[in-house]
Amino acid sequence: MEINVITLFPDMVKQTLSYGVIGKAIEQGLLVLNCFNPRDFADNKHRRVDDKPFGGGAGMVMMYDPLIKTLDHIKRLGSNLGQVIFLSPQGEKMLQSHCNEWAKQENITLICGRYEGVDQRFIEEHVDLEISIGDYVISGGEMAACVAIDALGRQIEGVLGSEESAASDSFMNGRLGYPQYTRSDLLGQSGVPSVLLSGHHEDIRKWRDDQSLKLTKMRRPELLEGTSES
Ligand SMILES: C[S@@+](CC[C@H](N)C(=O)[O-])C[C@H]1O[C@@H](n2cnc3c(N)ncnc32)[C@H](O)[C@@H]1O
Repeated sequence: MEINVITLFPDMVKQTLSYGVIGKAIEQGLLVLNCFNPRDFADNKHRRVDDKPFGGGAGMVMMYDPLIKTLDHIKRLGSNLGQVIFLSPQGEKMLQSHCNEWAKQENITLICGRYEGVDQRFIEEHVDLEISIGDYVISGGEMAACVAIDALGRQIEGVLGSEESAASDSFMNGRLGYPQYTRSDLLGQSGVPSVLLSGHHEDIRKWRDDQSLKLTKMRRPELLEGTSES
């Protein structure tokens, strides 16, 4: 899968995604990450990418022209833009289901805002979807884009090794995950539910299933609404 990221801070995105399973997926070419900086396409005198908002008010706004020129450049390279997604607190809230869907695509293009955001005309003309990572404001779309890429990357075949699996992750089956325990020299086996030490796979599967359901009912009952488990 190929992901284009339009960002004023390409190194921040590349660096953040260079660790762990996602870093390995990029190294192996399972995930191709192309970053483009709109500043490279700002042909005004000082290569400015932002300007004051019409109507006044605080802050600056990312200008239409460098953004559209960046998109044109990507198209000229022969790369498919796929769905164009603007990371924005005003967007619909990102869910696991969005990430699963993106992971099936060959291309997507993520736009990272900075300052007070992006000229609305660019959003209306060129953005297919606005996505928020939560009800809070961060300083730029880069971290939001990295969250999206990490979450979708885990769903691409071959990205997680055989010892890791997304199948038991929270939200994969509409529930939270179950508690995990491992070896401790300091604690020994104290506090570990005995079923996990029993070696009985069916009992362990059932215990995990019960724990996952219990935790979901307690912490996120809305996830179960409309299911037989609510
Ligand atoms: C300082 S924010 C601008 C916030 C904007 N003035 C508003 O109130 O909606 C700058 C950029 O960070 C990104 N951003 C901030 N919060 C985000 C969130 N919750 N989800 C996704 N992107 C976010 C967006 O790309 C946004 O354009």
